[in-house]
Amino acid sequence: MTQDELKQAVAKAALDYILPHLESDMILGIGTGSTANFFIDALAEVKTRFDGAVASSEASAERLKKHGIPVYDLNSVSELRFYIDGADESDARLNLIKGGGAALTREKIVAAVSREFVCIADESKLVDVLGNFPLPVEVIPMARSHVARELVKLGGDPAYREDVVTDNGNVILDVWNMSITNPVEMETKINQITGVVTNGLFASRPADVLLLGTAEGVKTLK
Ligand code: A5P
Repeated sequence: MTQDELKQAVAKAALDYILPHLESDMILGIGTGSTANFFIDALAEVKTRFDGAVASSEASAERLKKHGIPVYDLNSVSELRFYIDGADESDARLNLIKGGGAALTREKIVAAVSREFVCIADESKLVDVLGNFPLPVEVIPMARSHVARELVKLGGDPAYREDVVTDNGNVILDVWNMSITNPVEMETKINQITGVVTNGLFASRPADVLLLGTAEGVKTLK
């Protein structure tokens, strides 16, 4: 199976997972990236069974609207029953690295408001220790060099993701060469650096379920 076929399979599995719970007034949280895109396309087939969605990026909002799925402002919603999104890495405890698509801050906000975070990924994303994928950090532009120096003190090797401006008008530093053995601690430490908006570790709020696309079928990790 190709990586895209695995992503398509987990998108379908996520739809099957939420389908029995859908209600006509339900609003879903929807993430960003190629796996989330497959999910949005699958979701369109059942769009009459729920109310609408909150998106973690402008790109996902556009894709939802193209399918005729209403997109809401998060401020008009008190809770999202599900948040469905991909990841760049997951460990077996469902701590994640996200933000490869630069949408990490909005993703973290939508995840915080969601009752159940359903992560969808192909098997290449499951790792023993997080950090092989460079950890994205969203930074206020004027603080970029300061934050980079502080990240070096934490043992990382930050690289400015040139030509990328986030949906919030900020920049991204990708931190290489970190072996993240204590994800909650690292998430907290990085967030305490002045000028950091947020970082791509989802450890204080990990996923609740991981649907993992493998050659042998979709596996469910909780
Ligand atoms: C977006 O900022 C990311 O967090 C994505 O969820 C992550 O990069 C996964 O993307 P793919 O589904 O394209 O691999």
